[in-house]
Amino acid sequence: MAIKGVILAGGLGTRLSPLTKITNKHLLPIYCKPMIYYPLETLVGAGIEEILIVTGGRNAGDFLRLLGNGSEFGLNHINYAYQEGEGGIAEALGLAKHFAGNDKIVVMLGDNIIQKSIKKYVDDFRKEPRGAKLLLKKVSDPERFGVAELKEGKIVAIEEKPRKPKSDYAVTGIYMYDNQVFDIVKNLRPSKRGELEITDVNNAYIKKGEITYGILGGWWTDSGTFDSLLRANNLVAKDSGRKRKT
Ligand code: DAU
Repeated sequence: MAIKGVILAGGLGTRLSPLTKITNKHLLPIYCKPMIYYPLETLVGAGIEEILIVTGGRNAGDFLRLLGNGSEFGLNHINYAYQEGEGGIAEALGLAKHFAGNDKIVVMLGDNIIQKSIKKYVDDFRKEPRGAKLLLKKVSDPERFGVAELKEGKIVAIEEKPRKPKSDYAVTGIYMYDNQVFDIVKNLRPSKRGELEITDVNNAYIKKGEITYGILGGWWTDSGTFDSLLRANNLVAKDSGRKRKT
């Protein structure tokens, strides 16, 4: 079965202002490439050929100018969708309904940068009959993320940015869903901060008992704050240096 890819690159990136005053966060540099290149390369590296980029704001056209039809990435075509405003990650995901059709999707947040391939997780998800699959990563600062509570090897709940995290396992911004996700998104209510939350989508799958997970290998970082942006640059630079020397 075909699996399609969705990169969420909307939002206003206010935590990076003034860097994001005149451009979209996902066009900022991470070492030698614009941020959006990294999730694109991750999805293409997992064998995904049909990709949708959801973006928004005043600089959406720059994505087209930068990426075109994706030939630099070995793609024949890239699909684009536009998120009006900043209604949350799950709202941006809802815009992929038409693109996804009846297929499964791998969703990646546009500010997530990872070291290694996710191909084996995607291939595993292909074989699963239905439901969702998350990728977790042990971190030292779980309170910054969605945090998975694990019992007997299963995710029993996810809390978004909890003050007292129930584990050290962050939910990374790589989510695999079957087609039910669009019904789940349709029935979501905005959270206290006024957004449709991806954590609520994942908790809906937990309730159905239709969620699996993998532990992501290699390093992982987001890049939506000054500290994580710097960290992402340093991690990529270090890896590039290693590659150059060999
Ligand atoms: O990085 C992983 C974390 O990402 C998860 O552990 C959290 O559960 C998840 O909520 C998210 O947390 P953040 O607070 O870091 O999300 P942020 O608002 O920074 O959005 C991340 C990306 O999602 C952003 O780079 C673009 C996309 N996005 C976000 C919003 C709010 C959209 O496309 N549209 C939106 O309206």
